[in-house]
Amino acid sequence: AVELSLRPRYLAEYIGQAQVKDNLKIYIEAAKMRQEALDHVLLYGPPGLGKTTLSNIIANELGVNVRTTSGPAIERPGDLAAILTNLQQGDVLFIDEIHRLHRTVEEVLYPAMEDYALDIMIGKGPSARSVRLDLPPFTLVGATTRIGLLSSPLRDRFGVVSRLEYYTVEELTYIVSRTSDILQVQIVGEAAREIGMRSRGTPRIANRLLRRVRDFAQVKGDGIITVDIAKASLRLIQVDDLGLDEIDHKMLRAIILNFQGGPVGLDTIAATIGEESQTIEDVYEPYLLQIGFLQRTPRGRTVTPLAYRHLGLPIPGQQD
Ligand code: ADE
Repeated sequence: AVELSLRPRYLAEYIGQAQVKDNLKIYIEAAKMRQEALDHVLLYGPPGLGKTTLSNIIANELGVNVRTTSGPAIERPGDLAAILTNLQQGDVLFIDEIHRLHRTVEEVLYPAMEDYALDIMIGKGPSARSVRLDLPPFTLVGATTRIGLLSSPLRDRFGVVSRLEYYTVEELTYIVSRTSDILQVQIVGEAAREIGMRSRGTPRIANRLLRRVRDFAQVKGDGIITVDIAKASLRLIQVDDLGLDEIDHKMLRAIILNFQGGPVGLDTIAATIGEESQTIEDVYEPYLLQIGFLQRTPRGRTVTPLAYRHLGLPIPGQQD
């Protein structure tokens, strides 16, 4: 319950993503003025940036219900049909990981999105025919970390396509302060900033680090999160001053020490450090690319001199 109440419920409480937020605000207001369902919205970007939160906010702002599910959870066309026929006028259907929808399910979604209709096959063989069932107008909010894996017929049926960006340190500092208020924990401004700086542009990480630091402050201190407590506890949980954790370090070191800095393929890196390729690609790599520690080339991943410097390793071909 605390987890849920941490999330902002209205656009006005939602920090960051200014562009996405401002545009959504207009589309929501316009849909309300016309008393129509909002156009379907696709949210994409790295995990933890607030796609689920935004879908709930969209529903709250519209004053409608939200039904939440995910691509892999909808196993058969009938599962989706059941969800769609239970929606009320104007409701939001949120499908997380929408790139993982089964093809057969996706085909049910096309007429549902385009015409608010469900095509049902009656009978089998030569006497089979299809019956069209009307659905209430609704808004599909789809979320994905992998827009490239979406089929173009699906992608093209979204009227609004928004990319979420990594948050700035200022925004994350503000989020940490806001969450601290909700958790009723005292934190000094500098400590909030320290957590913000180490959160890899990601509110979910900021709030997770805040909880861990709060534990240390409670047990080792007097409950107040000072900058010393924040720094010491982040060091203990092996989050470095850029927010990189053990897995980031393992990955960068493996590329440098085992593959001379690359290029090396994703699956080879994954096998070397014992992580899933998918996790590396979705969770770790995007931030390392963003801060310029990693580059993607046609022949694989390469570590940049910036990363060597951060790890305190000698840059090849350079005297120091
Ligand atoms: N908590 C997590 N993400 C947030 C955001 N974008 N704004 C406010 N609080 C948040």
